[in-house]
Amino acid sequence: MRRESESSKDPPSVRVFFGDLEKMTSKDVADGEVSLIVTSPPYFNAPFDYPDLFPSYEDYLDLIRSFASQSKRVLGKGRICAIVTDDMLVKEGSSSRGRKYALVADTTRIFLDAGLLYRDKITWVKPAGYTRISRRSGVVLQHPFPMYFYPDNIQESILLFQNGEFDYSQLKDAPRNVLESSKIDTVQLNKERWNLTVWNITNVLPMPGRVEEGIAAFPEEIPRRLIKLFTMVGETVFDPFAGSGTTLKVARELGRRGIGYEIDLELRRVIRKKLGTQEFIVEEREGARRLRKFLQTKIHQNRSVAR
Ligand SMILES: C[S@@+](CC[C@H](N)C(=O)[O-])C[C@H]1O[C@@H](n2cnc3c(N)ncnc32)[C@H](O)[C@@H]1O
Repeated sequence: MRRESESSKDPPSVRVFFGDLEKMTSKDVADGEVSLIVTSPPYFNAPFDYPDLFPSYEDYLDLIRSFASQSKRVLGKGRICAIVTDDMLVKEGSSSRGRKYALVADTTRIFLDAGLLYRDKITWVKPAGYTRISRRSGVVLQHPFPMYFYPDNIQESILLFQNGEFDYSQLKDAPRNVLESSKIDTVQLNKERWNLTVWNITNVLPMPGRVEEGIAAFPEEIPRRLIKLFTMVGETVFDPFAGSGTTLKVARELGRRGIGYEIDLELRRVIRKKLGTQEFIVEEREGARRLRKFLQTKIHQNRSVAR
């Protein structure tokens, strides 16, 4: 909740820390400071975005375990952590077949083990012509016989975890103007079908020249809905895997405070571009490194080998 001493005209602040989330301390983000987490962790060794970033799946799960315990620590009581993620098909060795990793199930298990409640799962559906999918369904077209079926994936999960029960009397005690400006537009909610467990939203295409090039960015509409549905104006939204800063941009537009954590120093320019002219605080922390050029080179190398 916004502190009483601040006038409603104060621009909401955005803070971005460049560092490894596993090393984040309560000096950066205090216990219980956050009212909502909206994030998308790296997709385990995703061939288009993070080839070989993690030495093993167990290393990846260690990052998710650390993310879960940090979420529990920084979230206020009863508050929500929204995670956009998806199972991942990763090629192994010289085999042409990939192995599918159960990121959604494993992330869910880890968050439950960390003591958060499982509140809901929304399926984000992209348009059928989504260009980045691997066209696995072509296999059954080439071999129209049983056992050759592999569907093309046009969905991701938005997992919602809750840090214990929420005390709704907090809303009754909120200043009237804050409550009024945080009211949800139920006409829009019904019209755009936010009320369902399936959200049809066009994805961001990481085309050459776009600010999100080489970043698995989610569309602004995802944080926009979640921030309106789960926070009051003036509260703090945290993105521990900030990427291009989509969550931070939307949080600021909606009059919320934003905190981001991002390991890759090369995204500083991208975040600055996305956030526009308004000032925001940037600080460097342990574990920050330069990543994007290295990953992009690897992706291009893999593509030319595959040709
Ligand atoms: C899927 S992207 C997030 C994209 C973001 N939602 C957007 O819209 O631009 C995941 C981000 O996590 C970052 N990341 C990976 N490991 C991290 C770590 N240990 N600590 C902090 N950030 C990390 C990656 O560099 C990447 O930018």
